[in-house]
Amino acid sequence: MTLAVYPGSFDPITNGHLDVIAKAVRLFDEVRVAVLHNPSKQPLFSLDERMSMIREVVSVWPTVKVESFRGLLAVYAHDVGANAVVRGLRSVSDFEAELPMAHMNQRMNDSAVTVFVPSSLQYADISSSLVKQIAMYQGPLTDCVPASIERALRAKYVGGNA
Ligand code: PNS
Repeated sequence: MTLAVYPGSFDPITNGHLDVIAKAVRLFDEVRVAVLHNPSKQPLFSLDERMSMIREVVSVWPTVKVESFRGLLAVYAHDVGANAVVRGLRSVSDFEAELPMAHMNQRMNDSAVTVFVPSSLQYADISSSLVKQIAMYQGPLTDCVPASIERALRAKYVGGNA
């Protein structure tokens, strides 16, 4: 049985993330979306909000589960017995940032292989931070996030407040 963890902040999950999950579902028996709980960061959405938003949009895939983790990804991946860590790549600069992390994670846990999944071209410009900026100024989010995530973003920025 192959188990991949797909870690991230997911603040919020985007169509780019879902595109990576759809690809990972084809490669692995189980995919665990692992939401980072980082108490030193102030996300827009709480950990519980992010997890329930993700659960709603991944419910179409029976082999996808949603969990949270704190601390080192390599330790979490070891503890759950993951064969792979999935990371999406939108650009060469993503790769430059991701490769040192993959090497360091491999040093700490060589049983989980980092698998880079190239984003589909139509999602290469989408990031959670850009989505939040657009939402803050009531801009269009068509094709960037699922409808339920757009509603959650609009509710956060109601009245034009950050
Ligand atoms: O969605 P993001 O913010 O790009 O995800 C980054 C994430 C969560 C994968 C990365 O920050 C991470 O693995 N954090 C856990 C702490 C850790 O293991 N750091 C060492 C990496 S070599």
